[in-house]
Amino acid sequence: KILILDFGSQVTQLIARRVREAHVYCEIHPNDVSDDFIKTFAPKAIILSGSHASTYEDHQLRAPQAVWDAGVPVLGICYGMQTMAVQLGGKVEWSDHREFGYAEVRARGHTKLFDGIEDFATAEGHGMLKVWMSHGDKVTELPPGFKLMASTPSCPIAGMANEDKRYYAVQFHPEVTHTLQGAAMLTRFVRDIAGCRGDWIMGDYIAEAVAHIRAQVGDEEVILGLSGGVDSSVAAALIHRAIGDQLTCVFVDHGLLRLNEGAMVMEMFAGRLHAKVVHVEAAEQFLGHLKGVTDPEQKRKIIGREFVEVFQAEAAKLKGDGNKGAKWLAQGTIYPDVVESGGTASKKATIKSHHNVGGLPETLGLKLLEPLRELFKDEVRELGVALGLPHDMVYRHPFPGPGLGVRILGEVKPEFAELLKRADHIFIEELRKTVDEATGKTWYDLTSQAFTVFLPVKSVGVMGDGRTYDYVVALRAVQTSDFMTADWAELPYALLKKVSSRIINEVRGINRVTYDVSSKPPATIEWE
Ligand code: XMP
Repeated sequence: KILILDFGSQVTQLIARRVREAHVYCEIHPNDVSDDFIKTFAPKAIILSGSHASTYEDHQLRAPQAVWDAGVPVLGICYGMQTMAVQLGGKVEWSDHREFGYAEVRARGHTKLFDGIEDFATAEGHGMLKVWMSHGDKVTELPPGFKLMASTPSCPIAGMANEDKRYYAVQFHPEVTHTLQGAAMLTRFVRDIAGCRGDWIMGDYIAEAVAHIRAQVGDEEVILGLSGGVDSSVAAALIHRAIGDQLTCVFVDHGLLRLNEGAMVMEMFAGRLHAKVVHVEAAEQFLGHLKGVTDPEQKRKIIGREFVEVFQAEAAKLKGDGNKGAKWLAQGTIYPDVVESGGTASKKATIKSHHNVGGLPETLGLKLLEPLRELFKDEVRELGVALGLPHDMVYRHPFPGPGLGVRILGEVKPEFAELLKRADHIFIEELRKTVDEATGKTWYDLTSQAFTVFLPVKSVGVMGDGRTYDYVVALRAVQTSDFMTADWAELPYALLKKVSSRIINEVRGINRVTYDVSSKPPATIEWE
């Protein structure tokens, strides 16, 4: 396996993605792990990531000494190259002036990393690479034993190598897709230079994960909070495959789910997979506690807290049922969640609190079972399909834990939730039905997240001979690859027209439909 040390770049996760795409297993850890950690991890190679390095302190981040003592190949990327240079006796010129974007790099000498990899050759026969750069600081003097591997006019040392030690470093970012040969370079590094076999695939993963879960859990009982979302569904299916009836799923219906969601989840898990599922009907309790509350963060807190309470009560009940009582709490935590909260070097501001079930394991005194911890979202989906979950469920848009609670602006009233569920159902139905001719895909698949927002304001309309005075909804559809930034989707007018007329005709109480044309940033995806 490969160890990626994170110096806090926004794109460190992409390094892991590219490595996994080469079918090599890897993990991201903070740049300041201990020497012992590295020894125990026993990586076949180490990759040093870039950094947002913008302050003097950031420039002090270094790789642990064990990296250089491990005797394995090391690849430094951007800041990773600079720290490699500094630590091994070269020189770096620090500067606050950054250069961003496309660049053409000339490959120098012959190195195992670049040989046979190029985008085009110049008239003189130099191999050239089209890359994406983001630098200001640069290496100005090679460390002893290193040779020049790449250069550009503004960055004479854009790549360097010490092939005896198998150390390579590049100033540009091979992990982003704008660097056309980036995936090829990373594959070259992990497979040919580090000698990893490239045999990490999903089918084997199921067998391995099932064996691992059985060994971990033994004959003890497990409970899992099933939300109907992709992650908890795939986790449930995987654990059920491993231990069958030792798993009890608890599905809490807080009354703020999409239309028919409850029935669908029960049909799938209890009906088709024959898993043990407890369906808790808690709409009244949740809505009761939300009465009169308008602040979004307050609403999130209440929903999170109630969820924990309901879940705890169910867990306690299960003990009483002649059951041995669960010893494990299973969660659908996936790799990006782990990295985001793992205290890596990147410091990300909390814009909204996204934690829905905080504190559960501690208060329940349960051990945590998180079988998806090592997987990216698309790997989780692949796994879901391999486990036999329906395509539509596995490729669903994300749905936030607080559900419609943050899509009804201000106070959450039961009658608002009813109107919103029906309007949203129409929007999603039409997105699933409408195929884009250019791509052959449905607009549901062409958007990353789409939903309807209920606005508690009334506007005037006219229907038949009468005047109406009813509520407004906004349609929101975005395209994004990471949900950190997002563009509003350019849905076809014909589709918007159909959705608008269906909502206004079919949902009595709504007489106006608007479309949200704000990107993130500065807007967020959800309205609250
Ligand atoms: P924003 O609105 O911050 O959303 O641009 C980014 C992504 O996060 C989801 N989101 C949440 N998910 N609990 C969740 O589980 C929350 O409280 C929450 N708030 C936002 C949002 O749907 C989008 O996918």
